[in-house]
Amino acid sequence: MPRLSSKALYSFAHLVARRMGSEEAEAHEVADHLMRANLAGHDSHGIGMLPAYVRLLKAGLLVPNQTPETVVDFGALLVLDARRGYGQRMAGEAVRRAIARARETGACVLGLRNSAHIGRVGTYGEMAVAAGMSFTAYVNVADHHYAQAPFACRDARLGTNPFVTALPGPEGPVLLDMATTTVAGGKVRVAYNKGQKLADGILIDDEGHPTNDPAVYIRDHAGALLSFGGHKGSGLAVLCEMMSTALTGGQRAEEPTKEGILNSMLAIVIDLNRIRGDADARAAVASSVAHIKASRVAPGHDAILVPGDPERRAAAKRGAEGVDIDDTSWRDITEAARAVGATDAEIAAAIG
Ligand SMILES: NC(=O)c1ccc[n+]([C@@H]2O[C@H](COP(=O)([O-])OP(=O)(O)OC[C@H]3O[C@@H](n4cnc5c(N)ncnc54)[C@H](O)[C@@H]3O)[C@@H](O)[C@H]2O)c1
Repeated sequence: MPRLSSKALYSFAHLVARRMGSEEAEAHEVADHLMRANLAGHDSHGIGMLPAYVRLLKAGLLVPNQTPETVVDFGALLVLDARRGYGQRMAGEAVRRAIARARETGACVLGLRNSAHIGRVGTYGEMAVAAGMSFTAYVNVADHHYAQAPFACRDARLGTNPFVTALPGPEGPVLLDMATTTVAGGKVRVAYNKGQKLADGILIDDEGHPTNDPAVYIRDHAGALLSFGGHKGSGLAVLCEMMSTALTGGQRAEEPTKEGILNSMLAIVIDLNRIRGDADARAAVASSVAHIKASRVAPGHDAILVPGDPERRAAAKRGAEGVDIDDTSWRDITEAARAVGATDAEIAAAIG
């Protein structure tokens, strides 16, 4: 099982993105994103996504070096069509434009539609927070293989439809970044690759019965992930679908897609200096965090964390120690690298 440093993760992902045809700036943005997702503890959204990206590239469903089309540019409203562009760069560019617009108008409502997989959505929340903004995003996933069975559905009907909200906190962003399924789909892939069973409450089989076997979903493309939090999480998934597509014209789950993953996103970016004053907003967030953390720790837990804390902790540990990639994932990842022309010598040089 290889253990990769942050530099190795970056260099390897950069090599593959370049071989996939991305220009330097795009390869950098993709590699930096994937490396940081691994460091944050989300191996589901790190370099383990590269085999899927190579598959999509070869099927013409992911377009390197794409230019997003501006669909709406009206005051605080900005809607861009990514036309299957490489998601990390399409979303990065879109959010940078939304931040610039929010500096002028106080806020920006950003629609980004039809992007190839945008990865760990929290990354864009971190970008906005670093610029003194809050960030809220409703995201859908349109794929030929539905992932999520909404409340009371026996069948999968939606994607894992992530939701994000981020604010500047005392130790870094307070960043809620989550799939609306109990876990992200990529985590089922990681469990399958490691030969692990899933915890209860994550997956149902084709008949709607609970199962702990990730092979049902990954190998057999059957069954469905459950929404988190019963009808409430399911409701958020439904609204992620609608906010990100009904308002932007993005691809809906039920529209016939060719194989491939498309993300659409409706994001709201607010300049804290314009709405209240950056310092006052930050002080209020810090006060809320302190208030929550002053509670006694509940039995069975060892710490009280706010959203974003687990990723910061993981990044500190993994940044120092490196990230273990299981053998099955590493085999798939290196096969994908070779499929786009990376040689074994280049792979060895990239991972040091
Ligand atoms: N692009 C896509 O199509 C897509 C789809 C789904 C998910 N994703 C990504 O998958 C990643 C993983 O999602 P997930 O739902 O499995 O994440 P998760 O369940 O690990 O974490 C969800 C949230 O809970 C917080 N959290 C975790 N443990 C906590 C604790 N003990 N106390 C307080 N807060 C805690 C985390 O900080 C995070 O904000 C996310 O980055 C998401 O953006 C992307």
